[in-house]
Amino acid sequence: MKKKIVVLASGRGSNFAALVQFIKRKKLNAEIVALISDNPTAGALLLADSFNIRAICIPFRKEERTNFNEKLFKTLKDSEPDLIVAAGFMKILPPEIVNYFERKIINIHPSLLPAFPGIGSIQKAWEYGVQVTGCTTHFIDNTLDGGIIILQSIVKIKPNMSLADLESAIHKEEHKILPKSVKYFIEGKIKIINRRVVIEE
Ligand code: GRF
Repeated sequence: MKKKIVVLASGRGSNFAALVQFIKRKKLNAEIVALISDNPTAGALLLADSFNIRAICIPFRKEERTNFNEKLFKTLKDSEPDLIVAAGFMKILPPEIVNYFERKIINIHPSLLPAFPGIGSIQKAWEYGVQVTGCTTHFIDNTLDGGIIILQSIVKIKPNMSLADLESAIHKEEHKILPKSVKYFIEGKIKIINRRVVIEE
């Protein structure tokens, strides 16, 4: 049986699309069984429709956080995923979900963690004046972007680079390391020694 993946996304869904394409090109033998979004206007929901992937929207309202968490938890459990991929999911997952799916949730973050965690990382790195930044895939734990790192990719910031140039360079790298990380996970190649990931090829 194919391993089942659920993707969480709040925005346009380019990382989701990269993962779908990766599977379509037969580079990964797995199935995305659902795309869940907290944002009714997320492009990722439309993309899911166009790929014939079940699109589920659980709209987020601040004052109904508990209700949102419960619905999300139930939807995830019902999907019985082998892996959950947070591909631009802009809500912090509650401990019940993180603990239940321990080391089964991969996140993509647009900086070289532990530098610039949280939101606005690309802009923060650009404004800070760092000369190298990039992106990171990691397991989600109960810290903010502090889980075990799986893969990182470096992007050099050249002096004449605009913020938009940097964003697109980072997204390009994200679209490579996210599918690759998912593949390593699905194929059982990720070994963790203390906090260090070793890929067993
Ligand atoms: C990516 O930059 C990802 O690192 C961050 O959110 C963005 C999502 O982009 N967590 P997209 O929706 O996949 O295009």
